[in-house]
Amino acid sequence: MNRPIKKIVLPVAGLGTRFLPATKAIPKEMLPVLDKPLIQYAVEEAVEAGIEEIILVTGRNKQVMEDHFDHAYELENILQEKGKGAAFDVARSMLQEEGRIVYVRQMRPLGLGHAIWCARHLVNGHPFAVALPDDLIKGKPGALKQMVNSYNELGGNMVATMDVAREDTSKYGVITPGSRDGKRIEVKGLVEKPHPADAPSTSAVVGRYILQPEVMDILSDTKAGAGGEIQLTDAMAKLIGKQPFHALEFEGRRFDCGSKLGWLQANLAMAAEDPHMAAGVKAMISSFK
Ligand code: G1P
Repeated sequence: MNRPIKKIVLPVAGLGTRFLPATKAIPKEMLPVLDKPLIQYAVEEAVEAGIEEIILVTGRNKQVMEDHFDHAYELENILQEKGKGAAFDVARSMLQEEGRIVYVRQMRPLGLGHAIWCARHLVNGHPFAVALPDDLIKGKPGALKQMVNSYNELGGNMVATMDVAREDTSKYGVITPGSRDGKRIEVKGLVEKPHPADAPSTSAVVGRYILQPEVMDILSDTKAGAGGEIQLTDAMAKLIGKQPFHALEFEGRRFDCGSKLGWLQANLAMAAEDPHMAAGVKAMISSFK
């Protein structure tokens, strides 16, 4: 019986330099896609997957995320007095049961692996999920739910993957694939941001993971790798052969909302499915030369 996934770590300490000046005073995870900030999509995806404890690894200037997931009494009172029931409900739509969201700080920008390691005491020996909120995935059910369903059968560790162009492998973690069972692929190796000529495949890791707690011990000893950062990929690679490790080719569309183009595509894709916006946005796109 595989231990259930009840915890998730959301690393949200990054500086968001690709989105300056927008991210000078607000965290990149608070950038909206349509009307909802990226971090809220990630939390909703986790809750849909049955996750009960949400651990945000934050940094300086990220406090506004704590406010986002808390009551805003003045706003709620004003909306209630004015009888704006729909807006009142939206303003409370992100509230989770008290104590469900916890925060820990990454005090130095040493990389994704280091950010995850900062949550080790909160993970406390349980298997856990990780989601990178920049990677917005539109899926039904969400990518995390798809992964939890597969994990419940397979156990061990799991990454979400998608096929990318060979020239793009240097932007991702890339797997060495083993045997395949439908959308599930055995992972034989993992390498962070390989040069296209050296990439073992074009199957790239996107920002969703299910990990066994032993990865935290490995992270304690993991030295800086690609880009001079402590890489989660390097620590995960050391689990291969010791524990089951699979990739899941999730169903859905992934948007790299850490890039301006990806963020714009996410907005347009969401708008094209919104009954109030679809006609307007499609007319606008077809008017472009
Ligand atoms: C991170 C991971 C990488 C993964 C990517 C997915 O890289 O290190 O393995 O493929 O997220 O978005 P980053 O985009 O933070 O450089």
